Amino acid sequence: MNITELGRPGFLANLQEQLAIYGAAMDASPGDLPSRQVIMERHAGNPGLRALAAIDEPSQQMVAFAYCFRGAPGQWWHDVVWSAIATAAGVEAARIWLDDAVEIAEVHVHPDFQARGIGRRLVLGLTAERSERTAVLSTRDADSPARRLYRQLGFSDLLTAFVFPGGGPPYAVMGAQLPLEGASAT
Ligand SMILES: CC(C)(COP(=O)(O)OP(=O)(O)OC[C@H]1O[C@@H](n2cnc3c(N)ncnc32)[C@H](O)[C@@H]1OP(=O)(O)O)[C@@H](O)C(=O)NCCC(=O)NCCS
Repeated sequence: MNITELGRPGFLANLQEQLAIYGAAMDASPGDLPSRQVIMERHAGNPGLRALAAIDEPSQQMVAFAYCFRGAPGQWWHDVVWSAIATAAGVEAARIWLDDAVEIAEVHVHPDFQARGIGRRLVLGLTAERSERTAVLSTRDADSPARRLYRQLGFSDLLTAFVFPGGGPPYAVMGAQLPLEGASAT
């Protein structure tokens, strides 16, 4: 499995492949994908974008992708989570976790390729040699493979049972100091 960095042009040029993997991994309905595409196009303009893809070498097909960027005021997720952590744990906690943070926006592995270490390699690749102090993300507040992967890499819960504005299922917001645990073992 080849993990490759897409760069901003490659990220935008390969959005349809990434959306197809997203749909399969999240069991999303096709109707959900256009709004996800708009979000990804907006994210492409964020500072410090790093986008990785896993390419299956025999078929040369993209089978997984992940991307992150530097969190900053004015970004929807950053501002919502900053306020929620400030309310729950104090302004100092929000500053510590979010003022110098890389935000892991998406990590998705096609179901046919899960549980082979690809997700772990992607998260370690996103966070390797970053200048930021912390990494933060949100994931469904459930005992999922994603949650176990993030815990194994040293992420802890900053918020649980968190419902983003607009409703939807409860999420956990997780954070880790950089470099991640396990980073030196790869
Ligand atoms: C979460 C996800 C990205 C993990 O990628 P992956 O390539 O399957 O994970 P890895 O093979 O690197 O496994 C790393 C760890 O994840 C956990 N994990 C992965 N697959 C698992 C499974 N089927 N059952 C239980 N735990 C699992 C384990 O903790 C595993 O550690 P181990 O190797 O010691 O068993 C992938 O399962 C996925 O795309 N899921 C659906 C989409 C999703 O939830 N994305 C994350 C949104 S925040």
